[in-house]
Amino acid sequence: MGNQAFVLLCMLVFGVVGTCHGNNLTKHYYRHTCHDAEMIIKNATEKSVSLNPALPAKFLRMHFHDCFVRGCDGSVLLNSTANNTAEKDAIPNLTLFGFDVIDDIKAELEKKCPNVVSCADILALVARDAVSYQYGRPLWEVYTGRRDGRVSRSAEALANLPSPFSNFSVLQQNFANQNLSVHDLVVLSGGHTIGVGHCNTFSNRLYNFTGRGDQDPSLNATYAAFLKTRCRSLNDTTTTVPMDPGSGLTFDANYYVTVKQHKGLFQSDAALLTNQLSNHIVHQLVDPNIFFHEFARSMVKMGAIGVLTGNAGEIRKKCYIVN
Ligand code: HEM
Ligand SMILES: *[C@@H]1O[C@H](CO)[C@@H](O)[C@H](O)[C@H]1NC(C)=O
Ligand SMILES: *[C@@H]1O[C@H](CO)[C@@H](O)[C@H](O)[C@H]1NC(C)=O
Ligand SMILES: *[C@@H]1O[C@H](CO)[C@@H](O)[C@H](O)[C@H]1NC(C)=O
Ligand SMILES: *[C@@H]1O[C@H](CO)[C@@H](O)[C@H](O)[C@H]1NC(C)=O
Ligand SMILES: *[C@@H]1O[C@H](CO)[C@@H](O)[C@H](O)[C@H]1NC(C)=O
Ligand SMILES: *[C@@H]1O[C@H](CO)[C@@H](O)[C@H](O)[C@H]1NC(C)=O
Ligand SMILES: *[C@@H]1O[C@H](CO)[C@@H](O)[C@H](O)[C@H]1NC(C)=O
Ligand SMILES: *[C@@H]1O[C@H](CO)[C@@H](O)[C@H](O)[C@H]1NC(C)=O
Ligand SMILES: *[C@@H]1O[C@H](CO)[C@@H](O)[C@H](O)[C@H]1NC(C)=O
Ligand SMILES: *[C@@H]1O[C@H](CO)[C@@H](O)[C@H](O)[C@H]1NC(C)=O
Repeated sequence: MGNQAFVLLCMLVFGVVGTCHGNNLTKHYYRHTCHDAEMIIKNATEKSVSLNPALPAKFLRMHFHDCFVRGCDGSVLLNSTANNTAEKDAIPNLTLFGFDVIDDIKAELEKKCPNVVSCADILALVARDAVSYQYGRPLWEVYTGRRDGRVSRSAEALANLPSPFSNFSVLQQNFANQNLSVHDLVVLSGGHTIGVGHCNTFSNRLYNFTGRGDQDPSLNATYAAFLKTRCRSLNDTTTTVPMDPGSGLTFDANYYVTVKQHKGLFQSDAALLTNQLSNHIVHQLVDPNIFFHEFARSMVKMGAIGVLTGNAGEIRKKCYIVN
């Protein structure tokens, strides 16, 4: 369905244009301009994931970071320059990973159809295809037609990305700033069903929670004892532990079981139990059918944040540098 048809249908169904703030993304945007684009991306992604099963988590997080800072415009992929520190260099020692895979895919696409496929769309598709690989079917729909931004600032990443030390009300506000609901917050936190966290993103909970050498009482004591064997001190910035112990490579609903057992790794994970509504949603999402369905819906919302379409932005030739 074309954009105009979509907007028209929305108006018929809802009566007002406003209820359908059509974000202007469509299915298979490159069907006519770069027919094999989605297949090329999928093939290359699956090849890299088959060699490195840690990559799906890297790409999912990268897409999330892209969308939360200036919208899903590929700005997370840009390198710093002499006079600008880019988003990707915002948090030292916690740098994202997998940029080389994106850059290689972009190079392949430029050979087949130059100046057509945006880096923002590549990242959205790679994240979906990487996470879906273990299921052999796409876990969510990726609408395409994003264009690339020309600005990437580390200060904006720090200001917009939720912190692992945040409480519920701050997280709620972070998501509201992106027009995402508490429901989206709880559902998308389920991304933490795969991947790892560095010790320094949670070791305050083990060693110095309130500044008196104490432990976070909301953290499962048995689990805290285990974590202390991995993270030996507050200043360990290199060791990582899985966020969903036991199934850290499997994209499933087990994150919510973990959170319910007070084993959520970050304060931001534990915070989901501290609000009545979000606590209720955590309990619902333990059901894998509900989780997969809701995750697919929230990913489409997240993938539409602040997108550039039409003539806005540009189609980058290389994902790490503006044209
Ligand atoms: C709710 C607010 C969120 C906070 C505070 C948060 C925070 C974090 C932190 C601190 C890490 C560990 C980074 C490291 O130590 O290397 C992490 C990892 C990760 N996050 Fe989140 N995150 C949030 C939401 C999300 C969302 C919405 C997604 C995607 C849908 C996501 C996907 C991931 C993934 C997949 C990883 C693992 C990355 C890896 O294995 O390298 N997170 N997150
Ligand atoms: C993708 O991979 C499949 C299976 O390996 C292959 O048949 C197909 O030709 C590939 N398509 C592209 C566009 O690379
Ligand atoms: C861009 O940055 C990445 C790491 O963020 C680095 O590996 C790569 O070499 C950089 N590319 C260029 C051309 O500077
Ligand atoms: C940054 O430096 C480049 C040249 O290296 C220049 O073209 C650009 O205008 C500068 N940008 C800003 C914001 O100063
Ligand atoms: C980053 O790591 C280096 C050494 O690995 C350490 O000296 C530095 O304090 C770390 N920075 C942060 C912000 O954790
Ligand atoms: C949440 O954290 C913010 C910022 O640290 C603080 O201002 C606020 O009082 C906290 N809210 C609650 C309910 O603890
Ligand atoms: C949130 O919605 C408002 C009103 O529709 C819009 O003006 C704003 O740009 C949106 N913010 C984001 C980050 O999409
Ligand atoms: C624990 O926190 C307090 C207050 O911030 C600080 O004075 C103390 O040095 C910290 N202890 C360690 C071991 O870092
Ligand atoms: C880490 O902290 C411990 C005390 O908690 C200290 O003895 C040690 O020197 C610190 N290591 C580094 C690399 O700063
Ligand atoms: C702590 O975790 C264990 C499993 O590791 C679980 O059996 C127990 O119920 C948890 N405790 C709390 C208070 O959630
Ligand atoms: C939506 O897309 C169409 C065609 O791609 C374009 O002409 C139009 O400017 C876009 N609208 C917005 C708001 O970007």
